[in-house]
Amino acid sequence: MRSQIPSLAATALTFSYLVVGQTTTDCNPLNSTCPSDTALGKTVTIDFTQGENSEFSADTGTTITYGTNGAEFIISSNGLAKTISTNSYIFFGKVSVALRAANGTGIVSSFVMESDDLDEIDWEWLGGYTTTVETNYFGKDNTTSYDRATSPTVSDPQDTFHIYTIDWTPASITWSIDSVLVRTLYYADALDGANYPQTPMRIKLGNWVGGAADESTGTVEWAGGYSDLTEAPFTMYVKNITIEDYTTNGTSYSYGDMTGSYESIIIENNSTSTNTSYSVGESVGTNSTSNASSTASSSNSSSSSVSVTSGGSSQPASFLLGLVGLGCAYLVL
Ligand SMILES: *[C@@H]1O[C@H](CO)[C@@H](O)[C@H](O)[C@H]1NC(C)=O
Ligand SMILES: *[C@@H]1O[C@H](CO)[C@@H](O)[C@H](O)[C@H]1NC(C)=O
Ligand SMILES: *[C@@H]1O[C@H](CO)[C@@H](O)[C@H](O)[C@H]1NC(C)=O
Ligand SMILES: *[C@@H]1O[C@H](CO)[C@@H](O)[C@H](O)[C@H]1NC(C)=O
Ligand SMILES: *[C@@H]1O[C@H](CO)[C@@H](O)[C@H](O)[C@H]1NC(C)=O
Ligand SMILES: *[C@@H]1O[C@H](CO)[C@@H](O)[C@H](O)[C@H]1NC(C)=O
Ligand SMILES: *[C@@H]1O[C@H](CO)[C@@H](O)[C@H](O)[C@H]1NC(C)=O
Ligand SMILES: *[C@@H]1O[C@H](CO)[C@@H](O)[C@H](O)[C@H]1NC(C)=O
Ligand SMILES: *[C@@H]1O[C@H](CO)[C@@H](O)[C@H](O)[C@H]1NC(C)=O
Ligand SMILES: *[C@@H]1O[C@H](CO)[C@@H](O)[C@H](O)[C@H]1NC(C)=O
Ligand SMILES: *[C@@H]1O[C@H](CO)[C@@H](O)[C@H](O)[C@H]1NC(C)=O
Repeated sequence: MRSQIPSLAATALTFSYLVVGQTTTDCNPLNSTCPSDTALGKTVTIDFTQGENSEFSADTGTTITYGTNGAEFIISSNGLAKTISTNSYIFFGKVSVALRAANGTGIVSSFVMESDDLDEIDWEWLGGYTTTVETNYFGKDNTTSYDRATSPTVSDPQDTFHIYTIDWTPASITWSIDSVLVRTLYYADALDGANYPQTPMRIKLGNWVGGAADESTGTVEWAGGYSDLTEAPFTMYVKNITIEDYTTNGTSYSYGDMTGSYESIIIENNSTSTNTSYSVGESVGTNSTSNASSTASSSNSSSSSVSVTSGGSSQPASFLLGLVGLGCAYLVL
């Protein structure tokens, strides 16, 4: 979760931003040897109307309640942020969340995917903006000024449940609302891949006060202004979430070197380590997709999958990416 500061303060949501990194990592694999990450390795659907789920853990100081609208992330007059994160990681995948954002000026609801080296893919809702949502991404904690955020329109996100989806492959990331594509980011368009999110990620759901008195003025401006906590509660609801790990049957993911490249990620299961080398084809980065005016499915990349197998020899597999074809080979160590 990060906030962005309009560098031209006069207008809201300008195209030029400074960025405040608000994210930390316990161990950064780009400069340290870190423990491996537990792999999800499968698809799970979590119905938060049934209560707490063991796939998620709450950050210190977070108390989530559950009701007929699912998980309730309540900011009360004391303004505490509320964040829960998955215990396991996905290595490319598709995540859909049925969510109603919190109201209130300066209140930031978020659904973020984040890796240990601080690659990040974001959806963020600002409580004072009732017709837009923000998409964003970061590669390797690169928070230099840039125009990475977009603000697609959505109707009444604070009053209506919508389904927000991130579909993440080595070739592209798509953001969709109720199955309608609103943004595509190709690998090549993210600084030739250098800023492209590509390492195993956890999913984080949270609600925080961007308009708090002790935030920087830039963060407050980005968030839409100072929050009035006397108007609390400001509640974000997450009814359900479906998380599909495109890498199946792995038990853990680790960084084979300090490049932060997806090619360096080692997929392990209990009996073997597999260096999965995705070769990014020349077609990566080409534009041929339809956009929000298209009606049918939001993207045609949902057939992607990687299965971890072992057995001592290299095994070819295909990584179907809809309009973009990629080759994928396994090298078994
Ligand atoms: C590793 O990188 C992180 C993130 O950039 C930084 O906060 C940390 O200080 C670095 N650690 C070392 C030992 O360089
Ligand atoms: C936010 O919603 C709650 C509950 O619906 C309501 O009590 C509160 O007045 C609203 N606050 C603002 C600032 O709209
Ligand atoms: C960070 O991203 C900017 C573009 O947003 C780029 O100019 C810069 O070189 C990147 N820094 C690194 C260390 O990759
Ligand atoms: C969709 O295409 C239209 C027309 O080319 C363009 O104005 C719009 O920005 C595109 N939207 C997305 C989400 O790419
Ligand atoms: C999640 O909740 C939304 C909104 O109520 C609903 O439309 C959708 O069917 C639910 N999905 C699952 C998988 O339960
Ligand atoms: C992956 O695990 C599932 C469920 O245990 C199993 O049905 C499938 O055969 C496994 N696939 C591979 C490639 O091992
Ligand atoms: C994985 O395999 C690729 C392709 O052979 C190689 O370039 C890379 O160094 C390997 N990574 C590790 C961590 O062994
Ligand atoms: C992997 O091995 C550990 C230790 O033997 C065991 O606890 C765990 O259940 C195994 N995981 C899977 C997915 O088989
Ligand atoms: C893809 O389309 C976007 C928006 O039209 C453009 O900015 C970008 O440069 C295109 N990328 C490639 C690789 O053509
Ligand atoms: C690891 O891979 C082997 C070979 O494909 C498979 O038999 C085994 O079930 C896998 N283990 C796990 C935990 O998926
Ligand atoms: C998705 O891609 C496949 C293979 O390229 C194609 O056969 C199918 O018609 C596409 N579906 C849509 C909805 O575009």
